[in-house]
Formats: sequence, structure tokens, C-alpha cells
Amino acid sequence: MIREISPCPTLSGEITPPGDKSISHRAILLNSTAQGRARLSNFSPGADCSSTLTCLQALGVRITQASSAPPTIDVEGVGEKGLREAEDVLDAGNSATTMRLLTGLLAAQPFLSIITGDSSLRSRPMDRLISPLRLMGAKIWGRGEDSLAPLAIKGGKLHGINYPLPVPSAQLKSAILIAALFAKGETIIQEPSKSRDHTERLLQAMGVRLKVDADTISLIPSITPLNPIDLHIPGDISSAAYWLVIGAIHPNAKIRVKDTGINPTRMGIVEVLLKMGAKIKIENQRWTRGEPVADLLIESSELSGIKIDGELIPRLIDEIPVIAVAACVAKGVTIIKDAAELRVKETDRISHLVKELSKLGATMEEMPDGMAIYGEAKLHGAKCSSHSDHRLAMALGVAGLVAEGETLIDDAEVVEFSYPAFWQDMERIKAN
Ligand code: S3P
Repeated sequence: MIREISPCPTLSGEITPPGDKSISHRAILLNSTAQGRARLSNFSPGADCSSTLTCLQALGVRITQASSAPPTIDVEGVGEKGLREAEDVLDAGNSATTMRLLTGLLAAQPFLSIITGDSSLRSRPMDRLISPLRLMGAKIWGRGEDSLAPLAIKGGKLHGINYPLPVPSAQLKSAILIAALFAKGETIIQEPSKSRDHTERLLQAMGVRLKVDADTISLIPSITPLNPIDLHIPGDISSAAYWLVIGAIHPNAKIRVKDTGINPTRMGIVEVLLKMGAKIKIENQRWTRGEPVADLLIESSELSGIKIDGELIPRLIDEIPVIAVAACVAKGVTIIKDAAELRVKETDRISHLVKELSKLGATMEEMPDGMAIYGEAKLHGAKCSSHSDHRLAMALGVAGLVAEGETLIDDAEVVEFSYPAFWQDMERIKAN
């Protein structure tokens, strides 16, 4: 599908982003191995979380839909030993979180699993996952000398490890923690810098003996199964990010983004926008089962370029495509560094961002681990490609709203991976 975007004189109204994708994956997976039933409301409607759901069903977990608005599911946890061998290959689709977290779980199950994904996922690095799981005693093989999916996993007995993560990756950390639940002895993980901590929060809430001390996480496996936990999943700040950026860079905008998760390990986008000069108000702060939530009010602002690097990067890694759009119109230069991980996301987001935003009139330089973005660009409409990457499609959509003339984005339906109603929500704030 080709999406046409034209600029619009004012943007206003309220948007409630979809349920957080990262929390949805973890909540359904961990509740599947708990003993008893859990209800998850505001479950992410994206195709990525449906991939996790379908894989868990194939492994014998009963998951039913309780309502469609907000999306609510009931998970009948099978307990620690209740999963069964799937009859077929498990398909993680486009979702690396599905593949990596599930591999952590399958590494400890006494049966064979084969897990694959689409062509994007089959090109993403899995050696970083295979290495620590093998150290724990798992038997896992992959294509490309054990670096790529499909993966074959012959689960078995695991033991705890002491492991410094080579990259600040929440997927990797979570896969090890999930495997550690079933291992003999303690597992200790050191993070090079803090990545999203939803797994840690959920495990603690489900009764696991998990301790977080600065950059070190230690987990002692329990003898009893996890307690199931009902959750109302907060809105996804990674989906809210598009409205925060358009609200800031559009000359006549006022948007309230409601019920959004504001976990500090995900707040890099808000910190960066505030530092660039955005007028953001955090309202109505509250808690939902261990995760902080708020409404975010954003208004047209004058932004200036800044340097984004170091420990900030893992806390905004998925928001860099839309931050790059903000940087195009900000005053001065924005430098993004220490973000080489962007090259191994759904697509190479460094090279694709530079290529596609340049088509719209941006001046950018590609660097091995980031980019330089020269601000005050006069963006103009053009035909550009999402490269079938959902975050690129949405970032280009935001750019199209402040570009002169018409912007055409191909494969625009890829938003379905994380935010199926994205284009409809964009129409709503244009119509108000
Ligand atoms: C995610 C972690 C991040 C992020 C991805 C979701 C998660 O990946 O980019 O979209 O839910 O754990 P990495 O852990 O590979 O950095």
C-alpha cells in the first residue's frame, strides 16, 4: 500500500497509543509458564505480539480473547513443566523479541523446537543469543555457523551463569533471565548500560527472587512456579514518540498522548525532546502494576540540535528514526553516536534513514555508529520507501506532515507490526 501524506495547517486532539509491545510480549510469555490464569488488557494489537501469542499456542498454552476493545486476552498458564513440543516450525514473523525471548524459554524445555521468521528476522544476529544460552548448557544451532535463524533448539537441563552482556540489549538480557528461571543455581548478568527493564519488573511482581544492583542483575530460580499476574498494559511510549515529535515540530499543534508508559528505561525520547527545547508536560502520573504511566501534553516548540550518545542510546533506540525527523527541522546540528545497533534492527536504520530523509530534502551524513543531521532543512514531499520497516514508515509519515507538497510512502501497511491504527490516528489529529 502506498500512503499519501500532505501537510495540514493545525494538529490537535488526544491520542491513546496501543498497549506497550515490549510489556505485552513479556506478560504473555511469563504468564504462560505461571501456574494459573491471567487476564491481560490493552494487549498490543500489533502483529509482533500476535506472533508471540501464536507460538505459545503452538506450544500448548490456551490463550483466548476476552474482548477486542481494549484488546484483552486470558492466558491459562501451564506451569513450569507444562509446555509441549510444537507440531510444526514456530514462526516469529518480523519480531526479534518473539524469537529471542522464546529461545530463552525453549532452551530449557525437554523437546525439540525450530523457530524461524520473515526474511528481515532471518538476517538479524542470533549468535549473541546462542553464545550465553550454550554457556548455560543449552543445545542450539542456527544457519550461518550458528548466527542466523532458523534456530533449532533441543532443550534440556541448564545451569546459571555469570555473564557480562556484550551489547546493551533488553532482548538478550531477557532471554537469559527467562532461561535462568529454569536453571540450576544463580544467574548474574552485567549490563554495559541500562536497557528496558520490563522483564525484571514483571519477574519480581510474579514472585521471582531477582535483585537489581546498579548494572548487575541476579536471579535465583524458585522452587515454586511463577504467580500469574493480571495486567493492564500501559500505552507504548515508542508509539507515542511519533505524536510527541510531530507535536513539537509542527508550527500549530497541541496534542495530548494519553495513558503512556513512562518507565525511566524508555524515557530517552522525552529527555531528548526536552533537551532540544520541546514543550512537554507530564500530567496525571500514576502506577499500573509496577510500571509508571502518565499523559503527555506536547505543543509546537522551537527545537535545537543536540548530541545523543552513550547510555541514552538503549533508552531510545527505537525512537531514533523519528528523532532524526525532529533533528532535520531543529536549529543547528544533531549528532547521534554509539548507535551501531541500529544497523541490525528490522532494517539497517542508519543507511535507510539517511537515504530516505535526504529524498525529502534533509542534509545528513552517515557514520558507522550513527549520523550527523544538519537542521533547518526545508523538507519537501517526495516518493520514499519504508523498506518494509514499521518505524521508518511512521517516521517518514511524520516528516510528510511538515514537508511542503505530497509525500508518498511505500509498503505503508507495515505499521501493523507495532501500531496498526497509526494512519487512522494521524487522520484524527489532522481533522480536529
Ligand atoms: C526490545 C528491545 C530492543 C528494541 C526492540 C524491543 C524488547 O531491542 O529495539 O524493538 O522488547 O526487549 P534490543 O534488545 O535488541 O536492543
